[in-house]
Amino acid sequence: ARKIIIDTDPGQDDAVAILLALASPELELLGITCVAGNVPLSRTVINARIVCELAGRPEVKVFAGCDRPLARPLVTAEHVHGKTGLDGTDLPDPVMPLQDQHAVDFIIDSCRTQEAVTLVPIGPLTNIATALQRAPDIAAKIDEIVIMGGAYFEVGNITPAAEFNIYVDPEAAQIVFRSGIKLTVMPLDVTHSVLTTRARIDAFRALPGAVGPAVAGWTDFFERFDMAKYGSEGAPLHDPCTVAWLLQPALFSGRQINVEIETVSELTLGMTVADWWGVTDRPKNAFFVGGCDADGFYALLTERLGRL
Ligand code: BDR
Ligand code: CA
Repeated sequence: ARKIIIDTDPGQDDAVAILLALASPELELLGITCVAGNVPLSRTVINARIVCELAGRPEVKVFAGCDRPLARPLVTAEHVHGKTGLDGTDLPDPVMPLQDQHAVDFIIDSCRTQEAVTLVPIGPLTNIATALQRAPDIAAKIDEIVIMGGAYFEVGNITPAAEFNIYVDPEAAQIVFRSGIKLTVMPLDVTHSVLTTRARIDAFRALPGAVGPAVAGWTDFFERFDMAKYGSEGAPLHDPCTVAWLLQPALFSGRQINVEIETVSELTLGMTVADWWGVTDRPKNAFFVGGCDADGFYALLTERLGRL
């Protein structure tokens, strides 16, 4: 199985990404590292464990990481995810432990001691950048980083120019995008094409066991926000695209291009400047995904959630 670490700020869509990984024998989840993002760190460390317990996997290692971006105050997204970050389904507070080790140390140790670890950041990139700054040697050992973040044609969701995960910690994003590590990026262009339509949410709700109905409650919750905002037939399910890529890359299409992060301009802070048309000779540093077979994605996701 492919060894992965999910770095996350749950978040309903983060929760679904974690569940998809836990349901998939092709992946060995070494640990879940939490970061501040959608809600403060004090909540994301609770939410990650709620999700593990929902999946019946209290042995999963969950770590607390950075509680704020490298160089800026934290911006959160309760307006999308609710006060808890996991509004929409009421679940009990977790009893499983939080690990003592700091998330950044866990990432560094894992990359040094295990072969070919894949990092799957689905929140701001603070933990990953801190690990790379503190232990530059791990860059050569990481197999791939699969990121949910950024946007090209779809441009921004937190500002007109920027996607939330990159906007919250653009300095961290810049470190990761300049790291030379193999990067795969799931921008809003992709995630806005995998919408939680009524039929897709109903299919989650109809699954046997507790997981399907919980996911339906979550997706119902943030659907209200996104449908009002975008006028679309459902909400984008961003973060699970990363895990689906690891399971079935043939669902996705994209290009190897240059992507740079804006860290200076007030107007376009956190923008992923993506050279989709190859108009510069800047080095190609990321596989930027541009399309997804949405029906195939939901078929995979629904089948896997049904295993939990
Ligand atoms: C990203 O921001 C968060 O709100 C979601 O969990 C996702 O990771 C989408 O912009
Ligand atoms: Ca997220």
